[in-house]
Amino acid sequence: MTSAVSATTSIFAPGLFAGQVAIVTGGGTGIGRAVALELGGLGAKIAIGSRRPENVAAGVQSLQDAGIEAFGAPLDVRDAERCEAYVAEVLARWGRVDVLVNNAGGQFPSPAQHLSPRGFEAVIRNNLCGLFYMTLAVAKGAMLPARRGRIVNVTADVARGFPGMVHTGAARAGVENMTKTLAIEWASQGIRVNACAPGTIRSSGTLQYGEETLELARSATPLKRLGSVEEVSRVITFLASAQNDYVTGATYTIDGGASLWGDVWPIEEPRP
Ligand SMILES: NC(=O)c1ccc[n+]([C@@H]2O[C@H](COP(=O)([O-])OP(=O)(O)OC[C@H]3O[C@@H](n4cnc5c(N)ncnc54)[C@H](OP(=O)(O)O)[C@@H]3O)[C@@H](O)[C@H]2O)c1
Repeated sequence: MTSAVSATTSIFAPGLFAGQVAIVTGGGTGIGRAVALELGGLGAKIAIGSRRPENVAAGVQSLQDAGIEAFGAPLDVRDAERCEAYVAEVLARWGRVDVLVNNAGGQFPSPAQHLSPRGFEAVIRNNLCGLFYMTLAVAKGAMLPARRGRIVNVTADVARGFPGMVHTGAARAGVENMTKTLAIEWASQGIRVNACAPGTIRSSGTLQYGEETLELARSATPLKRLGSVEEVSRVITFLASAQNDYVTGATYTIDGGASLWGDVWPIEEPRP
């Protein structure tokens, strides 16, 4: 599903991230892997981490195959102490963190009335709390002391609600608000905080939905196709670059126009 992105295929200037260090959570698969390859191809040293060792190992391998200096370690963003330890490992190795891409996340489809409190909390912990723990660890460990840094939060297209996935809709809306809050609180500290909200993207993360659901999403998208991980990576790379230093607190949508038009959620006629 994914393909390598190198500096030669990138729309950005070669060496744009030379000398910089970027952490990409969930950087071993899908969108995260595309971002890691693109930032690394542009000169950054890349740290990735996620729960499953095989994802981390495969991600590090693909980075090294592309000639990128890479570090990978187990990371569960729901564990605040592990986030701190992970950042300490990156700092011990490279001494700085310039970019944090909070890409790790996951959810499962379920109508709200079939969702258990436990299922709801699991997604909130992963997609909202975990993102905050990682952000705090990087900000306190590296960016606030250095008075510089750029954070990009991966959210989702939740502006019109997120029927079928109330848990992640609530979590991502929370992250969007967090993005604004931290952009203000850390503006004077040289830290820029933005978010990228993808629509439906063909990636490892959308395999679980099956072709029928993906076709529904495609037909509800004005551009009549799904996005690619490389297209999302370009938006994230723009937001992560120092050339973007006057943008903060913003959420950039990349969804082929899906948030403006079309619906995949069938609404029944009201019952008498
Ligand atoms: N694809 C889309 O259409 C789409 C649309 C909107 C938003 N998004 C979001 O974009 C991000 C990337 O999605 P994707 O499509 O590339 O799916 P993916 O391949 O499933 O990527 C999710 C990544 O996050 C990691 N992860 C999940 N929970 C984690 C945790 N607690 N701690 C650390 N790492 C964790 C996973 O690795 P492990 O399993 O090894 O932990 C995986 O590498 C996700 O947050 C996703 O929800 C995707």
